[in-house]
Amino acid sequence: MHNVRTVRGGGNLQGIIRVPGDKSISHRALIIGSIAQGETLIEGFLHSEDPLSTAECLRKLGVNIPQIIEDEPLTISGLGLEGFREPKEILNCGNSGTTMRLLMGLLAGQEGKNFILTGDNSLNERPMGRVSKPLSLMGGKIFGRVNGTKAPISIVGNRLKGCLIGTPVASAQVKSAILLAGLNANGTTSVIEPASSRDHTERMLKAFGADIHIRGEFGRNIVINSGKNLIGQKILIPGDISSAAFWMIAASIVPNSEVLIRNIGLNPTRTGILNIMDSMRCNYEIVDKSIIAGEPIGSIKVKTANNLSPFIIEGDILPKLIDEIPILTVAACFCSGVSEIRDAQELRVKETDRLKVMARQLRKFGAKILEKEDGLIITGESKFNSAEVDSETDHRVSMSLAIASLLAKGVSKISRADSSNVSYPTFWDDLNKLTK
Ligand code: S3P
Repeated sequence: MHNVRTVRGGGNLQGIIRVPGDKSISHRALIIGSIAQGETLIEGFLHSEDPLSTAECLRKLGVNIPQIIEDEPLTISGLGLEGFREPKEILNCGNSGTTMRLLMGLLAGQEGKNFILTGDNSLNERPMGRVSKPLSLMGGKIFGRVNGTKAPISIVGNRLKGCLIGTPVASAQVKSAILLAGLNANGTTSVIEPASSRDHTERMLKAFGADIHIRGEFGRNIVINSGKNLIGQKILIPGDISSAAFWMIAASIVPNSEVLIRNIGLNPTRTGILNIMDSMRCNYEIVDKSIIAGEPIGSIKVKTANNLSPFIIEGDILPKLIDEIPILTVAACFCSGVSEIRDAQELRVKETDRLKVMARQLRKFGAKILEKEDGLIITGESKFNSAEVDSETDHRVSMSLAIASLLAKGVSKISRADSSNVSYPTFWDDLNKLTK
């Protein structure tokens, strides 16, 4: 284990890279494949800690998932909608909010079976009431610490009834949990979210044959009718734009850089970072666009841009770039003016409080950041000096700090750097490959 990594500032980034598979789609491929009938073939699966936690939980539920080998396709045999067994062990979701929240929705309607879910210290402090409450409205019996709002969570599988549910936060994890519960509920389940969040669950359920419909303004109302069996499919998982984001921003802000990132998922519910790169006036081009398994993909060529404009992030764009805020905070430090991130309270309940942690860590390099309750105000044109920083166990913080270190004078040290294994285990190899 290299839990302290050193990164030398200066130099530039050059080369061609292929980022690993999309994390959100990898979780969903396993989960939806598990409740389908027949085999599901998955290519491009992300071999990192979070999706592997989902795989391990599903195995405990009786799903036959072979050992997953990096860069090799895998085939799973689905058990149908009610085929899970009551596990003898506790389901350990590790650091993964997607695993815990989607499984809560999946298991709430498994009548007559009991389940216990737990996670690491970070996950067991994250809000689960946003899932247990709507599931209770559907008849779910969910218990846990702090009135059922924190893990460990216990689920007593029950017959659910379809409901109309308005979610107070635009969260794809909450929406997906309700939709998965809806597959096993009586009648129709309808979810309305305050802003559109990533729609990978909807796309995949549709491809597997679910009776699912997108309605309402900006498609914020998703309706699912139960009673349809899902049929196993072939799924090709594109590269994760949230992992590509580190290179997209690094190549924009590190002088004399040019990087081509291949095979990136460009689902419009995920591309908010491109809108911000447009307002920063980054120098990038999308090439080789195509559609694979219902998801748009493409490659991105990025070159350094001088005089990047400051930006404002607020409102409905937040869910479309929610995981990119840490690296966009780094970008803001090098824009020519003051940038602001607003309406970003959700960042406080991610793997860490990302507003607090990014402000605290980037200040060690010399960044000028003001922390507000719902966001950050970042003064640009920073001159970074090397520093000893800490990921505070958060994968996206670790990788953002690595990119920040490239802009610092001298050699920086990042402790607990290997938290990057949660979503991007080959990040440090790729950093080596690209830095000259
Ligand atoms: C995810 C949704 C987002 C995101 C997370 C993955 C998903 O969380 O931050 O990394 O796969 O559904 P929320 O839905 O809670 O915002």
